[in-house]
Amino acid sequence: MILLDGKIASLSVKNELKEEVSKIILSGKRPPHLAVIIVGNNGASETYVASKVKNCEEIGFTSTLIRLDATIEEVVLLDKINELNNNKGIDGILVQLPLPKQIKEQKVIEAIDPAKDVDGFHPVNAGKLVQGLSTFIPATPYGIMLMLQYYQIETKGKHAIVIGRSNIVGRPMSILLSSNNSYGNCTVTICHSHTKNLKELCLQGDIIVAALGKPEFVKADMVKEGAVIIDVGITRVEDASAKKGFRIKGDVTFDEVAPKSSAITPVPGGVGLMTIAGLLKNTLQAYRNRMLDVE
Ligand code: GUN
Repeated sequence: MILLDGKIASLSVKNELKEEVSKIILSGKRPPHLAVIIVGNNGASETYVASKVKNCEEIGFTSTLIRLDATIEEVVLLDKINELNNNKGIDGILVQLPLPKQIKEQKVIEAIDPAKDVDGFHPVNAGKLVQGLSTFIPATPYGIMLMLQYYQIETKGKHAIVIGRSNIVGRPMSILLSSNNSYGNCTVTICHSHTKNLKELCLQGDIIVAALGKPEFVKADMVKEGAVIIDVGITRVEDASAKKGFRIKGDVTFDEVAPKSSAITPVPGGVGLMTIAGLLKNTLQAYRNRMLDVE
């Protein structure tokens, strides 16, 4: 069994990016600049956002963290996005989700300039992905593709089972795995809450991507011998014996599934770190596209 280690694979991506940023700086240009907005102080979102900012700094990007109060009206956030859209020094804009309930997420997603939408959530970018055009691939599916590439996992002709159909992970993941691209060309089955024979379908999977957000949902009896397991789950489960009062659990029961698999991502230390790598790559891409437009 190969452990698909997000630390190792993301470091390789980050080292490449770091080198590219050095070259940019040496040529006398400014580095890429990512703006991250967090609304409120959801614990998990705080952790993700802190990690995104820290990783930008590590590879030489500029980052700006904008904090808005949980009680703000939607218009305040939309105005801030508009300001960032018009700011020539900002290349990428990321609004951390979820948002407080008075704010409509779709309206916010559609307010971001598609050229700065490094999350790839804008319908224009999502549409481009469906049509196989060059675009920003949502960071988590992008990170998973980078992981498959790093560990040279064969995907061509394989049956991939994607559990979950969110716009952030499941849906774009199914498109990427079925595309006529390197690390694509799978036959893909998307499963969700109304899927009737989930266990039987999972047992047919050469590759399983678990992205439903239910801790330890995928058990050993749902997995074929030798399958590749990608665990996207990252749920905080209360545990009084843990220092922070919670433990991070994936969507896969790692201890029982790992011995049956040919390759598996751990949680933490797997897909989460690759998500950051995907985001950083998108930010550099946004910078390059915009610089070409200016030159
Ligand atoms: N919340 C959970 N995952 C993501 C992500 O990839 N991007 C944003 N903006 N919010 C998220």
